[in-house]
Amino acid sequence: MSAALKSANGNGAPRHFLELMDIDSLTLRRMLDFSGRAKRGELTDSKPLAGKHIAMIFEKPSTRTRVSFEVGIKQLGGDVVTLAGKDTQLGRGESPADTARVLSRYVDAIILRTDRVEKMRELAEHATVPVINGLTDVSHPCQLMADVMTFEEHRGPIAGQVVAWTGDGNNVAQSFIQAAARFNFTLHVATPPQLAPNPELLAWARGQGAQVKLFSDPFEAVAGARCVVTDTWVSMSDDKSSARQRHNLLAPFQVNNSLLKAAAPDAIVMHCLPAHRGEEITDEVIDGPQSVVFDEAENRLHAQKGVLLWALGAL
Ligand code: CP
Ligand code: NVA
Repeated sequence: MSAALKSANGNGAPRHFLELMDIDSLTLRRMLDFSGRAKRGELTDSKPLAGKHIAMIFEKPSTRTRVSFEVGIKQLGGDVVTLAGKDTQLGRGESPADTARVLSRYVDAIILRTDRVEKMRELAEHATVPVINGLTDVSHPCQLMADVMTFEEHRGPIAGQVVAWTGDGNNVAQSFIQAAARFNFTLHVATPPQLAPNPELLAWARGQGAQVKLFSDPFEAVAGARCVVTDTWVSMSDDKSSARQRHNLLAPFQVNNSLLKAAAPDAIVMHCLPAHRGEEITDEVIDGPQSVVFDEAENRLHAQKGVLLWALGAL
């Protein structure tokens, strides 16, 4: 990689994509603008990642993140090495710091999916190349880039619109809160009180001027919403022994036709997938005319191209 690209931040620090809150709104917009151009086939240089090698480590399962990054990197001319965490020495206890030091000598960027955010932070602290968050227990920023792109394709600018999250206050919900601050939309979050998102994150978002309102009644939360979003009731990082209790708590937050009727008449429905049909979302909704979940899944491919180009200093 050229010196100019390595000193992407101007101070020699790598451009990590760890949390939306770390990155300013204009920069996130630049990424999405690039992604839109890539999707529409408008790139002047169709292989901007030529000569770049990227390592991906998945400590947890993935379909969309893995395939969309692999295909997206290759479409942009780059190369990718994908590793299951358990097949690496990281999986046998080698420290994230040493893993970062070594991989930084081989590759131009590292993408990590882990269920311990502390690992990602340690990796990023010691990497001299950008680290991209492919999901942790506390956030999923790549998903939100695709979600904002999808909303805007279907309903125009997201700024000032109402988006309603109903269900678990999980990693994706927490990235929605960060996105509300960065993309200036109003977010209604309906969860059981026991599963509410992190209060410190809420305080941060509100401190940024974000309109984020918590609800215990999903019907109140979706009133006026142009987008209704949900996700699994049991995430990969959750203790599986709590599944029954979580299902009982979350049953009233299911996205079904009756809840959707309480939203704006033209509301779209999003879900990061994988879906647990009949649990957090019904077949009639996910397969219905208001669902954009497969456009949303497709947009992972496009949205991450902007993230990659920015992280590698080319945006
Ligand atoms: N939405 C998402 O990240 O899907 P995968 O777990 O399949 O990557
Ligand atoms: N909240 C889910 C998202 C999966 C993409 C999980 O962490 O399992």
